[in-house]
Amino acid sequence: MRNNIFLGFVQLFLFALVLVMVWLQITSSSIVDFPHEDSEGACKYKCIDKERDALLHFKSSIHQDPKGFLSTWIPKQERNANDCCKWRGVMCSNETGHVTSLDLSFGNLEGKISPLLSNLSHLNHLDLSSNSFDGTIPVFIGSISRLRHLSLDFNDFTGIIPSELGNLTNLQKLSLRYVGGCMVDNLDWLSHLSKLEDLDMSGTYLGKADKWVNVILTLQKLSYLTLEGCDLSQVMHPYSYSSVNSSLSSSLVTLFLKNNDFNSSMYRWLMPLTSYELVELDLSENKLDGIPKYFGGLSSLTSLYIHNNPIHAKFPEFLNNLCGCTSFTLQTLDASNTQITGSLPDDIQKFSSLKYMLLSNNLLNGTISERVWQLPKLRLLDVSSNFLKGAISGNIGRSKIAIIDLSNNSLEAVPSKADMSNLSNAGKIDLSSYNFSDPIPNVSSTVWLDLSKNKLHGKISFLCQIVHRSLLFLDLSNNSLIGQIPDCLWHFRQLRVLNLGQNRLSGRLPASIEYLINLEVLYLYNNSFSGKFPISLKNCTNLAFLELGANKFSGHVPVWIGEKLLRLYVLKLTSNNFYGTIPLQLCQLVNLTILDLSLNNLYGAVPSCLNNLSAMVQDGFPHDQNMHKYPWGLCGPPLTKFCTGDEQPKVLPLNHGDHEAIDAFQKLFYTVVAIGFATGFWIACGSLLLNRRGRHAFFHFMNGLEDWVYVRVLVLVAKWQ
Ligand SMILES: *[C@@H]1O[C@H](CO)[C@@H](O)[C@H](O)[C@H]1NC(C)=O
Ligand SMILES: *[C@@H]1O[C@H](CO)[C@@H](O)[C@H](O)[C@H]1NC(C)=O
Ligand SMILES: *[C@@H]1O[C@H](CO)[C@@H](O)[C@H](O)[C@H]1NC(C)=O
Ligand SMILES: *[C@@H]1O[C@H](CO)[C@@H](O)[C@H](O)[C@H]1NC(C)=O
Ligand SMILES: *[C@@H]1O[C@H](CO)[C@@H](O)[C@H](O)[C@H]1NC(C)=O
Ligand SMILES: *[C@@H]1O[C@H](CO)[C@@H](O)[C@H](O)[C@H]1NC(C)=O
Ligand SMILES: *[C@@H]1O[C@H](CO)[C@@H](O)[C@H](O)[C@H]1NC(C)=O
Ligand SMILES: *[C@@H]1O[C@H](CO)[C@@H](O)[C@H](O)[C@H]1NC(C)=O
Ligand SMILES: *[C@@H]1O[C@H](CO)[C@@H](O)[C@H](O)[C@H]1NC(C)=O
Ligand SMILES: *[C@@H]1O[C@H](CO)[C@@H](O)[C@H](O)[C@H]1NC(C)=O
Ligand SMILES: *[C@@H]1O[C@H](CO)[C@@H](O)[C@H](O)[C@H]1NC(C)=O
Ligand SMILES: *[C@@H]1O[C@H](CO)[C@@H](O)[C@H](O)[C@H]1NC(C)=O
Repeated sequence: MRNNIFLGFVQLFLFALVLVMVWLQITSSSIVDFPHEDSEGACKYKCIDKERDALLHFKSSIHQDPKGFLSTWIPKQERNANDCCKWRGVMCSNETGHVTSLDLSFGNLEGKISPLLSNLSHLNHLDLSSNSFDGTIPVFIGSISRLRHLSLDFNDFTGIIPSELGNLTNLQKLSLRYVGGCMVDNLDWLSHLSKLEDLDMSGTYLGKADKWVNVILTLQKLSYLTLEGCDLSQVMHPYSYSSVNSSLSSSLVTLFLKNNDFNSSMYRWLMPLTSYELVELDLSENKLDGIPKYFGGLSSLTSLYIHNNPIHAKFPEFLNNLCGCTSFTLQTLDASNTQITGSLPDDIQKFSSLKYMLLSNNLLNGTISERVWQLPKLRLLDVSSNFLKGAISGNIGRSKIAIIDLSNNSLEAVPSKADMSNLSNAGKIDLSSYNFSDPIPNVSSTVWLDLSKNKLHGKISFLCQIVHRSLLFLDLSNNSLIGQIPDCLWHFRQLRVLNLGQNRLSGRLPASIEYLINLEVLYLYNNSFSGKFPISLKNCTNLAFLELGANKFSGHVPVWIGEKLLRLYVLKLTSNNFYGTIPLQLCQLVNLTILDLSLNNLYGAVPSCLNNLSAMVQDGFPHDQNMHKYPWGLCGPPLTKFCTGDEQPKVLPLNHGDHEAIDAFQKLFYTVVAIGFATGFWIACGSLLLNRRGRHAFFHFMNGLEDWVYVRVLVLVAKWQ
């Protein structure tokens, strides 16, 4: 099922992810390798015995350290090795030698927090996030009075969050995001934290926190507040506006209240929390049926996330409530999955700062105003899966939109004379499922062109009219294209993914395919291509996925596949007329994970090395709508589809023992999916973050990915910024 709701977030998330990884790299390497200057002043920095003992006691109460995070924490008699200031995660004051910072985030540590931690009396930064500490959050943390930053995110704590945290009057940042399954009786203690700037208690049950709005209002320094999934709709008191102290107002800059089961009665007490300083507001995943008029007065608001609410309103009226100051400042509007109806009206032109507009999976049933294409800042427009109709203005070519997704509507064709060559310097145009049959407009500068599932028909020779040196991704699958691929593929030298599956193409592959030396995915499933295994593919040494199934190729499976295409993970030649034996050289494809040679005329012994393959699939894989996202057969973890040997395993059974191959396979799956922005990835991760095992697996996987993935994602995302 196509799902682009989170497209923008996926990008932002990936971008954030990259930043986080980079940050992790920087922080961890600086902590591990360069604790501080290693000069003759060493004795000056040397750690204090009592604090070292406290740290060692801390370590002794950890009973699992799978990554060896604390392996440098060892008592040694040698004079210099004994300096706990050089231990991983520990930082000391360069003047007093006191431990001032303890950062054990992403440590995968399991156990309890030693009470001796409170002996680190000079600690001002404590970060234990993303571990598996359990039990209740220890009361003694409230006695580490110099703490300015406390983060216990993503652990396995249970019980009541101790009110002693209210003693930490120096706290500027308190992050208790998904600490496990915790709750509070009340939040009165919070009001002592008068220096607090940043508070996140997502995942904590606040359903009994009466008057929490008043508490928040007393925190005059608070700028960032995140209370996601806190069951706040169960608090009775904020619902009567009179109970909110109206002489107070907040200076919140960001307010994230996603997933609290709120209905629109919350807008009455939300008002004092939303001042003109508010920049970002997230009310997604609630039960809101609209937005109030006063949102139009939020004169600094740049981002409004209201997706996944049962809004039902007409989009013009919805926009009308944002008309005012907000229309000049708003940059991101995500109202996907909200059952909004109507058109994209001319009024959209008032939103002159709008950059990202996500309206997919709604009931929009009118037309798209051509003013949309004139919005000067718009970079992303996703109106996929609506019921929009009517013509697309030729002005689409004048817009600067980088990512445009009009798929799954009832729109008419983009006028073929519309010059879309300026549309983006780098971007994605997804017009798939879009009912048009004219020639493709000039899209010569996009990097990502998805015209799958359209009604494209006629000869594919039009490809030679497109000269497109920057195109990375071309998907023309599921159309009715006929004829031979023209011999001009040097027009697409950067191409990484080429999907022409499910058409009616025929003839030999052109020799110019040898120019596609960056090609990683070639998907030609279910056409009528003929001839021998194309020898020009010898030059495509980066191929990882090669699907030639359900065609009329013939001849031998060439020996050189095993010598030239060393990066292959997936090789599928099913349902062709190949004959002869399986070449032994396939054994040289160390990363080969799926080999499908079924339904050919092959004979002879199967090379024994192939027994080690983890997945031998008889009938390829889902040749469904998601094919361009998963252009190869997939099974096994993390997918729900398990690698069974299938009914009639033609080549070989599965070998579930080959964890390494599955591992590599998984990585690649995520890699390409991440690059493909498949939302399943995001959704999976979103829920993984909530459960402990999955969470750890997630971070493990993140740590394990290869650099080039980040680099690529970074490059792609950077281009879209
Ligand atoms: C920790 O502090 C307590 C009270 O200040 C003290 O009694 C205890 O000896 C200290 N522990 C260590 C290991 O220094
Ligand atoms: C200690 O570190 C701070 C910040 O890193 C630096 O400004 C200061 O000069 C250092 N002091 C000494 C005595 O090295
Ligand atoms: C810490 O907080 C608790 C409960 O809120 C309180 O009883 C106690 O007096 C506080 N201790 C200090 C030193 O402020
Ligand atoms: C809205 O939510 C409040 C608090 O949960 C509840 O008391 C009220 O009945 C709800 N209103 C509607 C119309 O559902
Ligand atoms: C409202 O806040 C003001 C200023 O902090 C305070 O003086 C007043 O007592 C509060 N009123 C109520 C009813 O809490
Ligand atoms: C759009 O849908 C709404 C609600 O179903 C309906 O009232 C309206 O007439 C439709 N508009 C158009 C242009 O089809
Ligand atoms: C197309 O849109 C309809 C209606 O919004 C939705 O039900 C359907 O799942 C969408 N199809 C695809 C392939 O996304
Ligand atoms: C494309 O951009 C160039 C340079 O900015 C401009 O001269 C040209 O008119 C644009 N073409 C279209 C169709 O907007
Ligand atoms: C697609 O376009 C054709 C011809 O213009 C039309 O007959 C058909 O009804 C359209 N299909 C949809 C789903 O709009
Ligand atoms: C498409 O646009 C590019 C860049 O403006 C131009 O060089 C090329 O000739 C155009 N191609 C067609 C077929 O119009
Ligand atoms: C393809 O490989 C052959 C042999 O290595 C080489 O001669 C030829 O130049 C390559 N073609 C391209 C387009 O790189
Ligand atoms: C096989 O996969 C591993 C791990 O993903 C990778 O490091 C290696 O470069 C790959 N080998 C080839 C020949 O591509």
